[in-house]
Amino acid sequence: MKATGRVSLVGAGPGDPELLTLKALRAIESAGAVVYDRLVADEIVRLIPAGVPRFYAGKSCKHKAMTQDEINDLLVKLAKLGHHVVRLKGGDSLLFGRGGEEALELVKHHIPFEIVPGITSAQGCASYAGIPLTHRGLATGVRYITGHRTADENAEIPLELNWDSLADPDTTLVVYMGLANLGVITQKLMEHGLPASTPAAAIQQGTTHEQRVLVASLDTLAVKVREAVFEAPTLLIIGKVVSLAAQLDWYMLQPADVDDFFSKNVMQL
Ligand SMILES: C[S@@+](CC[C@H](N)C(=O)[O-])C[C@H]1O[C@@H](n2cnc3c(N)ncnc32)[C@H](O)[C@@H]1O
Repeated sequence: MKATGRVSLVGAGPGDPELLTLKALRAIESAGAVVYDRLVADEIVRLIPAGVPRFYAGKSCKHKAMTQDEINDLLVKLAKLGHHVVRLKGGDSLLFGRGGEEALELVKHHIPFEIVPGITSAQGCASYAGIPLTHRGLATGVRYITGHRTADENAEIPLELNWDSLADPDTTLVVYMGLANLGVITQKLMEHGLPASTPAAAIQQGTTHEQRVLVASLDTLAVKVREAVFEAPTLLIIGKVVSLAAQLDWYMLQPADVDDFFSKNVMQL
């Protein structure tokens, strides 16, 4: 009988393949089988050595190539066949990635595993949009929340969040999976006291060559995002720190604009 293999739960980062950690790269290079999600960048999937079996788990909010139970079963089955299984997920596996549930399933089946952290999209998108998530005088903390909830596979449940505590002008709010409920989210935050003028941003496909950033205010974000036809994956950042993007937006800068950028920003400092 073959010895049981092991599973590496690996965060692949938000999109730019260069944001993969060395530990993640080494796990991919030594994989005997890979199970990967929709949000894993194609360039990263191409790092899987030729001939290594790969399984597309294809998770997104609405469409699932496999159910979570099927994914769990596949990980267990591949590991029991003796493989080093790499479970690749976008961002960090343990942030809105159900990595914890998969790890618990491995524990249940006595399968050894490791967890390799990835750069979560909040950090990747914020950095590539020039938005410090905390900043002296603007935000003393940051909260990551989900803007979409499902009871089980595909069954949506209403977004019941503690809006009073979320509407804190001194804390940056990062909303994952918030696009479909953007109107509700901004409305609730205003109803619970967050000023309508609070700067707010939507970032689509952050850290990739397709990155789009839209900066608005809390009361205009939903309309502007709809007009600009933003699509998943999109992350929302709400808070005073978003105002810094006007000065720190380095990634979208074209080489021809660099002189202009510095003269404008130095004048504002
Ligand atoms: C199921 S959650 C997975 C989050 C992931 N585990 C992480 O740590 O980033 C998917 C959501 O993450 C956000 N997201 C992931 N990658 C993104 C990217 N490159 N740009 C913008 N948002 C992204 C979007 O809000 C998307 O709906």
